[in-house]
Amino acid sequence: MIPQDTVQQIIQAADIVEVVGEFVSLKKRGASMIACCPFHNEKTPSFNVSPSKGIYKCFGCGKGGDALRFVMDLEGLSYPDALRWLAKKYNIEVKEREFTDQDLINQNEKESLFIVLEYAQNYFAETMAKTEEGQSVGQSYFKERGFSKNAIEKFNLGYALDARSEFFKKAEKAGFSSDILEKAGLISIKDGDVKIDRFRGRVIFPIHNVAGKPIAFGARILKTDPKAPKYINSPETEIYHKSQIVYGIYQAKNAIRQADNCYLVEGYTDVVSLHQAGIENVVASSGTSLTPEQVRLIRRFSENITVLYDGDAAGIKASLRGIDIILEEDMNVKSVVFPNGEDPDSYIRKVGGAAFSEYVKNYQKNFINFKTELSLADVGNDPIKKAELIADLVTSITKIPNPIKRSVFYQEVAKMLQIDENILINEGNKYIKTKIGENKRFEKGDGGIISPAPPLRNQELEIIESLKKFNAQEESLVKDLVLYGHFVIEKDEETGQNHTLADYLFHETNDLKIETPIFHEIYQLYKTEYLNGNNPTTQMFSSNPNPQIQDIAVSWMSPKHELSDKWNTFEIFIPKYEEMLNEFSYKMVLRIRKEKIQKEIESLINEIDESSEEDLEIIMNTIGKKRGIIKLIAEELGSVV
Ligand code: UTP
Ligand code: MN
Repeated sequence: MIPQDTVQQIIQAADIVEVVGEFVSLKKRGASMIACCPFHNEKTPSFNVSPSKGIYKCFGCGKGGDALRFVMDLEGLSYPDALRWLAKKYNIEVKEREFTDQDLINQNEKESLFIVLEYAQNYFAETMAKTEEGQSVGQSYFKERGFSKNAIEKFNLGYALDARSEFFKKAEKAGFSSDILEKAGLISIKDGDVKIDRFRGRVIFPIHNVAGKPIAFGARILKTDPKAPKYINSPETEIYHKSQIVYGIYQAKNAIRQADNCYLVEGYTDVVSLHQAGIENVVASSGTSLTPEQVRLIRRFSENITVLYDGDAAGIKASLRGIDIILEEDMNVKSVVFPNGEDPDSYIRKVGGAAFSEYVKNYQKNFINFKTELSLADVGNDPIKKAELIADLVTSITKIPNPIKRSVFYQEVAKMLQIDENILINEGNKYIKTKIGENKRFEKGDGGIISPAPPLRNQELEIIESLKKFNAQEESLVKDLVLYGHFVIEKDEETGQNHTLADYLFHETNDLKIETPIFHEIYQLYKTEYLNGNNPTTQMFSSNPNPQIQDIAVSWMSPKHELSDKWNTFEIFIPKYEEMLNEFSYKMVLRIRKEKIQKEIESLINEIDESSEEDLEIIMNTIGKKRGIIKLIAEELGSVV
């Protein structure tokens, strides 16, 4: 864990222009800098950097944040990893201090694993480059497969000698304990003391995390031997969780973002082959079935996946399984089948990069067409088979979290299979209902059920509308606090003391509770800092570790619509928001109070039915008083223009 003061030091040091400037070329425009957004494809720049506020915001795709967030999002790094990245750039020493001994041990162990794996990666690469066996066996294998020197270096491929413990001996001499070597999955210890290298006489494919550090190895056999496994892989370790990584993500991430699409293949060799042919937006699921974590990892860089699995039965089955997982993560998925059971590696070697891309472009299908065409031959005129296909398609559609996308796919299936759309929707809703309780996801939100559903009654619509308004009022209160809380709005003539907007708002909203959770959280954060006698800065929010708070703060800080020049030309006077603040805040507090009292009246009305005669009188009295207050507030609001 990185100590809090170091975190602050890093955030303070990180200059938004310098950090963003490492990845895109910024041009000055007025007080800000602009560029084409690195997060989505665009020709005219809508990506804004504000040096004074220390934030960036893209008006095209909506991404925004501070320097730290930029590194997290662009490099796909976790919060602590992004901090380390910045610390390195600014030469800030990070002394990772842990709070418990166990944490310390774990942290040290992880660090040691990274170091020993890095050592192993270099060892295998050197073994291939410099030893005779490495050259004559390892190198010539890759050469035969047509892997270039470039590709070998890019993926840090290597070779493990065909010997019992050559690697162990070297590593031990270099100072690594057999304990850590075993924990890293590089050796196994037999009979208590006999150390044996895990990888022997095989070519090595290092598996890298998003930051490019090796975390595991896959080792391919060189001869065809039906008795030995084709690949031997590292076991799960403290830093390698097979279900959470895809092979090639480090080498592919920029290309995935640029293309806004990720090709998903099965094998290590497919990835390397495609790269070599100039197609770099490709990762491999490495033979295991795709997991939600893997899909989410890809999603950091693009929402589109094209599955390129082998054309054999097993490949098709695997891609069918993958489809629902991808849909469930709210991603768009297409699938391609290669001719005559070819895989991406063999096919691209046969036809070259250009023809490969052309083929993918022409034959990629969305999941509906893909599934339909696969079973069409089967279905023919058989109504039972057709019903099975429909049920299968509907099940896939129900996995999609986004209701708009869902309804588009319902329409598509209806059109394609010539069946009434409402029947499909009903089928889907039925399926979802049986799933409720089984699956947590369906317990939240709309549960995936879409219309035909009864339209909302007027009363319900009103409640929703008033909630929205309420939310907007709370937002503007908290926003004013964050952006302008330090503004002096009044000077006490007698004492000469300044009153800030924050003083005023806290005084006026003392007994109010902000109901919207996220605004409440921001409000409380501000208040705690304020009560400690500090002046909370906007940066405290735009650099907040909670990404939701950060997003909100950044959107408040970046002007939604820059005032266009035409206002100046017509010389229309637009009072500055800051100048109107005093009145705004006053009105806002009034509105929130009014809303609160309205709610209190409503709950009192609900009590009427069950109350006794005496209580009733008290309740009616109270309601009367409250209505009086509301009227007063309404008048006041009307008079404040
Ligand atoms: P493949 O058999 O398609 O291997 O398995 P490949 O990488 O494409 O190799 P070539 O081109 O035939 O030489 C696909 C993936 O499944 C995993 C590996 O990750 C492999 O890349 N796999 C396969 C294993 O982990 N172990 C095995 O024994 C076989
Ligand atoms: Mn393969």
